[in-house]
Amino acid sequence: MSLRPIIAPSILAADFARLGEEVRAVQAAGADWLHIDVMDGHFVPNITLGPDIVRALKPHATVPMDVHLMIAPVDPFLEAFVEAGADIISVHPESGPHLNRTLKRIRQLGARAGVVFNPSTSPSVIEWMMDEVDLILVMSINPGFGGQSFMHSQLAKIETLRRMIDASGRDIVLEVDGGVTAETARLCVDAGATALVAGTAVFRGGPDAYAANIAALRG
Ligand code: DX5
Ligand code: ZN
Repeated sequence: MSLRPIIAPSILAADFARLGEEVRAVQAAGADWLHIDVMDGHFVPNITLGPDIVRALKPHATVPMDVHLMIAPVDPFLEAFVEAGADIISVHPESGPHLNRTLKRIRQLGARAGVVFNPSTSPSVIEWMMDEVDLILVMSINPGFGGQSFMHSQLAKIETLRRMIDASGRDIVLEVDGGVTAETARLCVDAGATALVAGTAVFRGGPDAYAANIAALRG
């Protein structure tokens, strides 16, 4: 697979009091995307940020904003996130009644559309929708918090989704999120991942460490 995975630092692990600076620092350190975790305290047991923060960060972003929505219902908020500057919007199938409609809507609004797999979500969810997705995101933790341990059980799912993407012949990004470290990054890439989200592993040690942290994830 890709020898140089896309690295998407999750700003959830950044200093929220200095978000603009943090975004500029990880970009200068080599971030390919910015991963933005949106939580509502309902779909997941934590609350983070909304479209206003995405809008405030947009002028600082020189790379795509990869917005991971952990909110339900999700449909009423798609437009607000695209208008705020989201380039990619990923949704959980469990966060709305009609995944196909939601994905079509994201593209219609002008963003790339992603589907997120919880640890318990089966790859079959996407079987009839390969034409509607630009990105598949495999959670290697239960969503809600950064700093959790990587679930090795999800590696087989990454391999299965890799095969499904290859069989489709489509250019779909396969991203992994949760507990990604230099060690687990390698396992994900070997299983077929082409993009890696990392919060703790990028932001630990402060700005002086970001470049080395990102380089370590690339292997
Ligand atoms: C959790 C989020 C993740 C999280 C990853 O629900 O989707 O993006 O920030 O954090 P780490 O890399 O610390 O596991
Ligand atoms: Zn995420």
